Amino acid sequence: MSLRIVILISGGGSNMQAIVRARDAGLPVEIVAVISNRADAPGLGLAAAAGIPVFTVAHTDYTSRADFDAALSAAIDPLRPDLVVLAGFMRVLGADLVGRYGGRMVNIHPSLLPAFPGLHTHARALAAGCKVHGATVHFVTPELDHGPILAQAVVPVRPGDDAETLAARVLKLEHLIYPRAIGWIARGLVKMDGDRVRLSDASLEQWVFE
Ligand code: GRF
Repeated sequence: MSLRIVILISGGGSNMQAIVRARDAGLPVEIVAVISNRADAPGLGLAAAAGIPVFTVAHTDYTSRADFDAALSAAIDPLRPDLVVLAGFMRVLGADLVGRYGGRMVNIHPSLLPAFPGLHTHARALAAGCKVHGATVHFVTPELDHGPILAQAVVPVRPGDDAETLAARVLKLEHLIYPRAIGWIARGLVKMDGDRVRLSDASLEQWVFE
Protein backbone atom coordinates (compact mmCIF):
# COMPACT_ATOMS: atom_id res chain seq x y z
CA MET A 1 0.00 0.00 0.00
CA SER A 2 1.45 3.39 -0.97
CA LEU A 3 1.00 6.43 1.21
CA ARG A 4 -1.05 9.04 -0.65
CA ILE A 5 0.77 12.35 -0.35
CA VAL A 6 0.05 15.88 -1.56
CA ILE A 7 3.10 18.17 -1.71
CA LEU A 8 2.77 21.93 -1.19
CA ILE A 9 5.44 24.19 -2.67
CA SER A 10 6.05 27.91 -3.21
CA GLY A 11 9.21 27.97 -5.29
CA GLY A 12 11.90 25.77 -6.81
CA GLY A 13 10.60 22.60 -5.19
CA SER A 14 13.98 20.92 -4.76
CA ASN A 15 12.62 18.96 -1.78
CA MET A 16 9.60 17.96 -3.90
CA GLN A 17 12.01 16.77 -6.60
CA ALA A 18 13.96 14.75 -4.03
CA ILE A 19 10.70 13.05 -2.99
CA VAL A 20 9.85 12.32 -6.65
CA ARG A 21 13.31 10.76 -7.13
CA ALA A 22 12.86 8.71 -3.96
CA ARG A 23 9.46 7.51 -5.20
CA ASP A 24 11.05 6.46 -8.50
CA ALA A 25 13.63 4.57 -6.41
CA GLY A 26 10.94 2.72 -4.48
CA LEU A 27 9.71 5.02 -1.69
CA PRO A 28 6.20 3.62 -1.05
CA VAL A 29 4.31 6.85 -1.75
CA GLU A 30 1.79 7.94 -4.35
CA ILE A 31 2.31 11.64 -5.13
CA VAL A 32 -1.32 12.52 -5.79
CA ALA A 33 -0.65 16.19 -6.58
CA VAL A 34 1.64 19.16 -6.14
CA ILE A 35 -0.05 22.40 -5.11
CA SER A 36 1.55 25.84 -5.06
CA ASN A 37 0.39 29.20 -3.74
CA ARG A 38 2.27 30.79 -6.65
CA ALA A 39 1.38 30.11 -10.29
CA ASP A 40 4.97 30.93 -11.31
CA ALA A 41 6.60 28.44 -8.94
CA PRO A 42 9.25 26.63 -11.01
CA GLY A 43 8.50 23.46 -9.09
CA LEU A 44 5.05 23.26 -10.74
CA GLY A 45 6.64 22.81 -14.15
CA LEU A 46 8.98 20.15 -12.81
CA ALA A 47 6.10 18.25 -11.19
CA ALA A 48 3.97 18.46 -14.36
CA ALA A 49 6.94 17.20 -16.41
CA ALA A 50 7.06 14.22 -14.04
CA GLY A 51 3.40 13.52 -14.83
CA ILE A 52 2.13 14.70 -11.45
CA PRO A 53 -1.16 16.68 -11.35
CA VAL A 54 -0.46 20.29 -10.36
CA PHE A 55 -2.72 22.97 -8.95
CA THR A 56 -2.33 26.59 -7.95
CA VAL A 57 -4.19 28.19 -5.08
CA ALA A 58 -2.83 31.73 -5.27
CA HIS A 59 -2.82 33.47 -1.90
CA THR A 60 -2.99 36.76 -3.81
CA ASP A 61 -6.51 35.78 -4.94
CA TYR A 62 -7.82 35.95 -1.37
CA THR A 63 -8.33 38.92 0.91
CA SER A 64 -7.77 37.00 4.14
CA ARG A 65 -5.62 34.14 5.39
CA ALA A 66 -8.79 32.34 6.42
CA ASP A 67 -10.20 32.52 2.88
CA PHE A 68 -6.91 31.29 1.43
CA ASP A 69 -6.77 28.43 3.93
CA ALA A 70 -10.38 27.48 3.08
CA ALA A 71 -9.56 27.44 -0.64
CA LEU A 72 -6.43 25.40 0.02
CA SER A 73 -8.45 22.92 2.08
CA ALA A 74 -11.01 22.68 -0.71
CA ALA A 75 -8.20 21.80 -3.12
CA ILE A 76 -6.54 19.29 -0.80
CA ASP A 77 -9.55 17.43 0.64
CA PRO A 78 -10.82 15.81 -2.60
CA LEU A 79 -7.32 14.40 -3.15
CA ARG A 80 -7.75 12.32 0.00
CA PRO A 81 -4.10 12.52 1.12
CA ASP A 82 -2.79 10.35 3.93
CA LEU A 83 -0.08 12.98 4.42
CA VAL A 84 0.30 16.64 3.43
CA VAL A 85 3.97 17.46 2.80
CA LEU A 86 5.04 21.12 3.04
CA ALA A 87 8.20 21.44 0.94
CA GLY A 88 9.49 24.99 0.64
CA PHE A 89 5.93 26.18 1.25
CA MET A 90 6.20 29.77 2.41
CA ARG A 91 2.73 30.50 3.80
CA VAL A 92 1.84 30.30 7.48
CA LEU A 93 -1.22 28.05 7.74
CA GLY A 94 -4.01 28.85 10.19
CA ALA A 95 -4.97 26.69 13.16
CA ASP A 96 -8.16 25.46 11.42
CA LEU A 97 -6.30 24.05 8.43
CA VAL A 98 -3.51 22.61 10.56
CA GLY A 99 -6.15 21.13 12.86
CA ARG A 100 -7.87 19.44 9.91
CA TYR A 101 -4.65 17.63 9.07
CA GLY A 102 -3.34 17.26 12.62
CA GLY A 103 -0.74 14.50 12.67
CA ARG A 104 -0.98 14.16 8.89
CA MET A 105 1.02 17.24 7.91
CA VAL A 106 4.83 17.51 7.91
CA ASN A 107 7.28 20.30 7.13
CA ILE A 108 11.01 20.68 6.64
CA HIS A 109 12.64 23.68 8.26
CA PRO A 110 16.24 24.76 7.55
CA SER A 111 17.49 24.88 11.13
CA LEU A 112 18.01 22.59 14.11
CA LEU A 113 14.67 23.36 15.80
CA PRO A 114 13.86 24.66 18.30
CA ALA A 115 16.71 26.97 17.32
CA PHE A 116 15.90 29.60 14.68
CA PRO A 117 12.21 29.17 13.86
CA GLY A 118 11.01 31.54 11.14
CA LEU A 119 12.97 33.02 8.27
CA HIS A 120 16.62 33.73 7.35
CA THR A 121 17.80 30.81 9.46
CA HIS A 122 21.25 30.45 7.86
CA ALA A 123 22.14 34.13 8.30
CA ARG A 124 20.90 33.98 11.90
CA ALA A 125 22.96 30.86 12.65
CA LEU A 126 26.06 32.58 11.25
CA ALA A 127 25.32 35.76 13.20
CA ALA A 128 24.98 33.69 16.37
CA GLY A 129 28.39 32.11 15.76
CA CYS A 130 26.97 28.57 15.53
CA LYS A 131 29.51 25.83 14.85
CA VAL A 132 26.83 23.47 13.55
CA HIS A 133 23.57 24.05 11.73
CA GLY A 134 21.10 21.83 9.93
CA ALA A 135 17.52 20.95 9.07
CA THR A 136 14.51 19.50 10.84
CA VAL A 137 11.56 17.46 9.60
CA HIS A 138 8.63 17.90 11.96
CA PHE A 139 4.90 17.40 12.25
CA VAL A 140 3.05 20.68 11.73
CA THR A 141 1.16 22.17 14.69
CA PRO A 142 -0.56 25.54 14.95
CA GLU A 143 2.61 27.01 16.47
CA LEU A 144 4.98 27.88 13.60
CA ASP A 145 8.04 25.62 13.19
CA HIS A 146 7.32 23.92 16.48
CA GLY A 147 5.76 20.45 16.10
CA PRO A 148 7.09 17.00 17.11
CA ILE A 149 10.49 16.37 15.51
CA LEU A 150 10.74 13.42 13.12
CA ALA A 151 14.31 13.80 11.87
CA GLN A 152 17.24 16.18 11.93
CA ALA A 153 20.48 16.46 9.99
CA VAL A 154 23.56 18.36 11.10
CA VAL A 155 26.22 20.14 9.05
CA PRO A 156 29.37 21.96 10.16
CA VAL A 157 29.59 25.73 9.77
CA ARG A 158 32.88 26.26 7.95
CA PRO A 159 35.16 29.34 8.07
CA GLY A 160 34.23 31.70 5.27
CA ASP A 161 30.66 30.42 5.05
CA ASP A 162 28.01 32.90 4.09
CA ALA A 163 24.23 32.32 4.10
CA GLU A 164 24.35 30.92 0.55
CA THR A 165 27.13 28.40 1.11
CA LEU A 166 25.61 27.27 4.39
CA ALA A 167 22.13 27.01 2.85
CA ALA A 168 23.48 24.86 0.02
CA ARG A 169 25.18 22.49 2.49
CA VAL A 170 21.95 22.19 4.51
CA LEU A 171 19.72 21.80 1.43
CA LYS A 172 21.76 18.79 0.26
CA LEU A 173 20.91 16.99 3.51
CA GLU A 174 17.28 18.15 3.41
CA HIS A 175 16.98 16.10 0.24
CA LEU A 176 18.19 13.07 2.19
CA ILE A 177 16.22 13.33 5.41
CA TYR A 178 12.84 14.38 4.00
CA PRO A 179 12.25 11.30 1.82
CA ARG A 180 13.62 9.10 4.58
CA ALA A 181 11.27 10.55 7.21
CA ILE A 182 8.30 10.26 4.83
CA GLY A 183 9.34 6.64 4.25
CA TRP A 184 9.15 5.96 7.99
CA ILE A 185 5.58 7.27 8.03
CA ALA A 186 4.71 5.30 4.87
CA ARG A 187 6.05 2.12 6.49
CA GLY A 188 4.14 2.66 9.74
CA LEU A 189 7.33 3.02 11.78
CA VAL A 190 6.32 6.29 13.47
CA LYS A 191 4.57 6.29 16.82
CA MET A 192 3.76 9.24 19.03
CA ASP A 193 4.81 9.20 22.68
CA GLY A 194 3.06 12.32 23.95
CA ASP A 195 4.52 15.08 21.80
CA ARG A 196 7.65 13.03 21.05
CA VAL A 197 8.13 10.95 17.93
CA ARG A 198 9.27 7.41 18.62
CA LEU A 199 10.37 5.09 15.81
CA SER A 200 9.50 1.43 16.25
CA ASP A 201 13.04 0.66 15.03
CA ALA A 202 15.28 2.75 17.31
CA SER A 203 18.32 2.05 15.11
CA LEU A 204 16.80 4.42 12.55
CA GLU A 205 17.15 7.29 15.02
CA GLN A 206 20.84 7.91 14.39
CA TRP A 207 21.29 11.18 12.51
CA VAL A 208 24.88 12.28 12.17
CA PHE A 209 25.90 13.82 8.88
CA GLU A 210 29.05 15.41 7.52
C1 GRF B 1 14.52 24.99 1.92
O1 GRF B 1 15.58 25.54 2.67
C2 GRF B 1 13.52 24.43 2.88
O2 GRF B 1 14.12 24.02 4.10
C3 GRF B 1 12.63 25.60 3.14
O3 GRF B 1 12.48 26.21 1.86
C4 GRF B 1 13.74 26.10 1.17
C5 GRF B 1 13.53 25.83 -0.29
O4 GRF B 1 12.92 24.56 -0.42
N1 GRF B 1 11.37 25.18 3.69
P1 GRF B 1 12.64 23.92 -1.90
O5 GRF B 1 13.96 23.98 -2.65
O6 GRF B 1 11.60 24.79 -2.56
O7 GRF B 1 12.19 22.53 -1.62
